[in-house]
Amino acid sequence: MTFSKLTSLLLCGGALAFASPVFADTELKVYISSQHQPDVWRKALDQYEAKTPGVKVAIETGGNTSEAQAQYLNTVMSAKDSSLDVLILDVIRPAQFAAAGWTSDFSGKDLSGYLPAYVEANTVDGKVVALPAFADAQFLYYRKDLLDKYGLQPPKTWDELKAAAKKITEGEGRPDLQGLSFQGKAIEGAVCTFLLPYWSQGKALVENGKLTFDHDAAVKALSLWKSFADEGVAKKNIAEVATDDTRKEFQAGNVVFAVNWSYAWAKSQGEDSAVSGKVGVARLPSVEGGEQSTCLGGWEWGVSAYSEHQDEAKKLVEYLSSQEVSKFMAINGALLPTYADLYKDAEIAKAAPWFADALQVVETAKPRPVTPRYNEVSEVIRTTVNAVLAGVVTPEDGATQIEARLKRILR
Ligand code: GLC
Repeated sequence: MTFSKLTSLLLCGGALAFASPVFADTELKVYISSQHQPDVWRKALDQYEAKTPGVKVAIETGGNTSEAQAQYLNTVMSAKDSSLDVLILDVIRPAQFAAAGWTSDFSGKDLSGYLPAYVEANTVDGKVVALPAFADAQFLYYRKDLLDKYGLQPPKTWDELKAAAKKITEGEGRPDLQGLSFQGKAIEGAVCTFLLPYWSQGKALVENGKLTFDHDAAVKALSLWKSFADEGVAKKNIAEVATDDTRKEFQAGNVVFAVNWSYAWAKSQGEDSAVSGKVGVARLPSVEGGEQSTCLGGWEWGVSAYSEHQDEAKKLVEYLSSQEVSKFMAINGALLPTYADLYKDAEIAKAAPWFADALQVVETAKPRPVTPRYNEVSEVIRTTVNAVLAGVVTPEDGATQIEARLKRILR
């Protein structure tokens, strides 16, 4: 707040009565991903406005996928546009945004209550560049009713999943029932598609900033996904399936098993869902003899370096990232908390019983490579996964291409 704004407030009498900070007529604009409960965040913002006289907050949403959102933000930030004050960022982006000088510094903030993975993701070169919004990971969604009907347990390996999916789809005899839906489109989620079975073989992609690519593990990972399509367990056009397609098809009752992020759960329990009350959530399977692995997701709140309301925007982010709001969003928006303590909270357990098991998954989820050049890393992996699934490239050649291209980026 400027000095003149403060004086004019003080001069208009009643202002002295305010105990909380008074920001005179500040309009903040917050960018929120359209997939992640903007309506529920709106309620949290209403509560903030009610206790913060002088501050109004507007929401802007856009882009249905992580990279569409990033593309929009890249344009805004490259133009040094000051219209957005607060930005929600996918967990993979703080490193890039910080390197570009696009986010303001939160150093000095005590991060001890947050899950360690998010402390790490938001600390770049020793500086805190954003604060956690919500946690996320990929899970296996399954039709509890159908598994029960066929006397099956949630599969622990991908081979078990394949067998279970075949048994159920053959038994049901519905041509529109898919055994498995996952993301094969060239979107950010397809990076995790590749990494799930790759990591499951005990291999790392990058260690200490160096590429540790295992060619055989990569071939095996790509072949596994291709085999689901070839054997009719997944749709033939799985190369066109994005995250929200998986969510919609599962919710319509046309999918037995689905790989998806946590947001799909609340939606599957909504009024317009055909599978409400019939959904189970489990850890993702492993390759035979491997470990059950998943990708760390999640979103972070940053303040735009170009915001003209730095103090007000930082205060708002502290609130949005607080334990109070994390709990509110867990109960009302089914977004996973960023505070370990909240996974034991009785009210949250009542609203989303499966969160009790989700903590272990989030805590053991692996991060995608952390690098300011993440966009290029992502592009290489997701376009190759897509090309393999579309049948344009073999798994063998796909693995060779990923390795050659990543070598150039992560030199
Ligand atoms: C989810 C995750 C995010 C990931 C994205 C991919 O939103 O939270 O980290 O990148 O899905 O689609």
